[in-house]
Amino acid sequence: MMSPIEVRLELMFQPKRPTGSFLVNRLLTVIISSALVLGGAGIAATAATPSPTPTPENTHQVELPASPNPTPTANGDPSGAIGGTPSPSVTPATPPGETTAPVVCGVCFNPTSYSLVKANSLWVVANKQRPLNPITYKPEIGYFKGVQVAKVTAVALNQMAAGMLKAKAGTLLLNSGYRSYATQVSVHDRQVARLGLKAGEALAARPGYSEHQTGLAADVSAAGQGCTIQVCFATTKAGKWLAANSWQYGFILRYPNGQTATTGYQFEPWHFRYVGVNLATEMKSQNITVLEKFWKLPAAPSYNY
Ligand code: DAL
Ligand code: ZN
Repeated sequence: MMSPIEVRLELMFQPKRPTGSFLVNRLLTVIISSALVLGGAGIAATAATPSPTPTPENTHQVELPASPNPTPTANGDPSGAIGGTPSPSVTPATPPGETTAPVVCGVCFNPTSYSLVKANSLWVVANKQRPLNPITYKPEIGYFKGVQVAKVTAVALNQMAAGMLKAKAGTLLLNSGYRSYATQVSVHDRQVARLGLKAGEALAARPGYSEHQTGLAADVSAAGQGCTIQVCFATTKAGKWLAANSWQYGFILRYPNGQTATTGYQFEPWHFRYVGVNLATEMKSQNITVLEKFWKLPAAPSYNY
């Protein structure tokens, strides 16, 4: 027999794509997990917070200490290569005579799952104060519609493209994904030549400082909707849908409007960064849009040189 708490959890955590009731579910998650902690209940925590289709990242879940409000720290640098397994996953035992219970998890976000420093980490934070390490990093390459990105990003882009089509928001295109150090030299130089140093560097990172070199960044557009790599992409059907839904596929809009003082870049409604479903969901639930603020890192409006 399941306890009343287990029954409620089973009803609540049916695997499904999150909906508009996400925040309610999230709140209930915290309440339930707090109740479990207080009641000393020992349920193996293995599943993600509301997450859509499993991804390479969220198939490697970690058993976590139940803590209703994990505080992210900037120091987390345990390991965490892209696609790596932070620690073994745990499968809860099924009591004899009962069908397999859905995997449940009170609080699954583990702020120390991946490095913020290493260039090969899913959670690497690259900005004008944080060059890639190593600066020559090149990811494992995959393809989305013939354009190079990191393999994990390609998988997630395919899922997001399918969701976007289903929502009738358009056909996702990738204009720029992985860019080598050498490619970033020319992208940077071209924008600075075109717009001058200040405006050029508000659009293009110096080589060795670009998320594009990690393969985790995607400059997207939608077939036939125009505004490709332009601020007006935010007003298109696709731009709106992506801004509202990309978190479900593990992406964040990396350079939101009004955050230039923190990110160092102008509003780029086309530039999405893959961070995985766990982190994207956590940022969404905490209503924090910018990586620097989420991890309590210094603002990065400019370079040190
Ligand atoms: N457009 C972004 C900031 C880059 O060049 O990496
Ligand atoms: Zn970009």
